[in-house]
Amino acid sequence: MNKQVNVYEPHEWKHSTIVAGVEWKNPVGTASGTFQYDACHWFYDVSQMGAVTTKGVSPVPWEGNPGPRTTESPSGTVNSVGLQNPGVDHYLVDELPKLKKEGATVITNVAGHCDDDYAEVVAKLADCPADMLEINVSCPNVTHGGMSVGTDPVALNRLITRLRHITSKPLIVKLTPNVTDIVSIAKAAVDGGADALSMINTLVGMRIDIRTGEPILANRTGGVSGPAVLPVGLSFVWRVRQALPDIPIIGIGGIDSGEKALEYLYAGANAVEVGAAALYEPTAPMRVARELDDLLDSRPQLAAKLAAGQTWR
Ligand SMILES: Cc1cc2nc3c(=O)[nH]c(=O)nc-3n(C[C@H](O)[C@H](O)[C@H](O)COP(=O)(O)O)c2cc1C
Repeated sequence: MNKQVNVYEPHEWKHSTIVAGVEWKNPVGTASGTFQYDACHWFYDVSQMGAVTTKGVSPVPWEGNPGPRTTESPSGTVNSVGLQNPGVDHYLVDELPKLKKEGATVITNVAGHCDDDYAEVVAKLADCPADMLEINVSCPNVTHGGMSVGTDPVALNRLITRLRHITSKPLIVKLTPNVTDIVSIAKAAVDGGADALSMINTLVGMRIDIRTGEPILANRTGGVSGPAVLPVGLSFVWRVRQALPDIPIIGIGGIDSGEKALEYLYAGANAVEVGAAALYEPTAPMRVARELDDLLDSRPQLAAKLAAGQTWR
């Protein structure tokens, strides 16, 4: 079968951005766990995205949580996939080479149950062609590691300091909204050597099946994402930008249009990622990127700042 890519025609991007020294051809990336090369390359040319973020990879394959693993909620989705993935060795010989062959800017998302897991994966990725690494310290769906590291500034600082010594690649630390004081967590990551921060991961949530009186998800709770979390993500980006004027920030949460991406840029983000929207509309990241490219035409001041690696505030 002939390769069929890109329901969209090629596009000349007008507005780029820079995140921790890495140039993105536009400010829109895909969010981890909602993008996979084999599933997405039929729909659009992956090299056209600002960046593509791949699913979290762990030292060995993980099976993830038992089903049901997803359920719906008003304007959102609740998932407890539990970081199912084929492991870093498979990623290095399969998905990453395919993406680099297409010319994509790649962010590799890293998962772990403990500090040693993260260190092992980052060491294996140190010489790979990925452009940036995103450390997921914010998954609510695993019992060890994940969010437990991202809610403790001391543990987070220790982990990022260790990873900083292992790799010279740009390190993005992905933060959880399931905390009361995001600024102290963000500062701990930056003090440990993070080059950039991304936020938000999912919010802990659940649904109940009223026929049985039991939780719908086998894991009982999951992570809420989609349009419902937009205001939460915006407020996190805003608060971190106020406290840390210089750190590059990737805004995530509830983005399904160029207008919503623009809100994050005005809140102080350098770039954004599109997540759950791609689960029901696979071309959503590309559509958002194109809508934003046009919206930035009439906002030359913001566009110039982004192109220079600066932010609106
Ligand atoms: C099905 C699913 C799987 C996800 N897997 C990951 C993951 O492996 N690593 C990660 O850092 N975030 C993961 N996320 C979180 C998203 O990357 C994103 O931060 C979150 O969904 C909020 O953005 P959204 O509202 O645009 O979906 C996942 C989200 C969903 C819906």
